[in-house]
Amino acid sequence: MDSILRGKDFIATQDWSKGELNTILKLSEELKLKFAMNEPTDNLLRAQTIFMMFFEQSTRTRNSIEAGITQLGGHAHDLTPDKMQISHGESARDTAKVLSRFGHGIAIRNCFFGIGNQYLNNVAEHAEVPIISMQDDYYHPLQGIADLMTIREKLGNNLKGTKVTVSWAYADTHAKPLSVPQTQALLFTRFGMDVTFAYPEEFPLMPAIMEQARKNAENSGGRLQVTHDMDEGFNGAQIVIPKNWGGFLGVEDPESDEGKKEIKANLEKYKDWICDERRMDLTDKHSLYMHALPADRGHEVTDPVIDGPHSVIYDEAENRLHTAKAIMALTMGGRP
Ligand code: CP
Repeated sequence: MDSILRGKDFIATQDWSKGELNTILKLSEELKLKFAMNEPTDNLLRAQTIFMMFFEQSTRTRNSIEAGITQLGGHAHDLTPDKMQISHGESARDTAKVLSRFGHGIAIRNCFFGIGNQYLNNVAEHAEVPIISMQDDYYHPLQGIADLMTIREKLGNNLKGTKVTVSWAYADTHAKPLSVPQTQALLFTRFGMDVTFAYPEEFPLMPAIMEQARKNAENSGGRLQVTHDMDEGFNGAQIVIPKNWGGFLGVEDPESDEGKKEIKANLEKYKDWICDERRMDLTDKHSLYMHALPADRGHEVTDPVIDGPHSVIYDEAENRLHTAKAIMALTMGGRP
């Protein structure tokens, strides 16, 4: 367990050692127990401020950070670009420098493809307080660590060899970022899990990230494999995480009108990539169904599955609160 984390940014789990990740998980468990027992934890970040900058909508992330910092004795400012001079072009550097003088942490969600991760790193370069990613176009570390906590609660702390399948699924609500499956690829392989990715060929993930995940698996004694057949991915899985992600990498220019049309045409070919009871029957008898939420019910998953006996979605969402609190308590906690 590594515990000297004050001031450390939480943008990519890959930048955190396994010992540091274990520290987050351990503290999350403690904070969850204290919450259950109504024990106060408001001494941990008393009178500290976190600035939340949301370039996109959120339910879980916004409310877990805001409720979380309140429970730790601090306060969150809920900001969107239209409430800030970012809308008039203020630079990442100036925003970072000024907010660093007012408070103790900056949390950002910016999932714009090709922009988000770069923006977070620009702010981090100039900030004097920790930057916490609330999701970008590459990573969603707050989701990944809550997923890992949930899996450990259900299956125990030794996850070596645990068969988990992260699958693409059809959805028509919006082009969902790559960040959740990419974070799961990087994180689950650190813990020796037997990870399968199932997706249609037109919906790949970032090659450099998948390559890093492969190296993680080699180092941990785990495994990473890819299939383009959803049924094959589900066969014998102990955990299934079927979720849509956008086809940004399957076309030449995803931002052009032509590229957007091509992505839509690719999407419509795979309406049958749904997590239903037939597919759950292919998995292990005691398998877990997980989803970061929001889920596209009727497209990504059927109601009998998401509301059924395999589903742990609300436990997974609940853990967003306690992991967010642990990360804030470990990284903020004082001015540099
Ligand atoms: N899973 C997740 O990040 O949910 P929100 O988009 O509601 O924050």
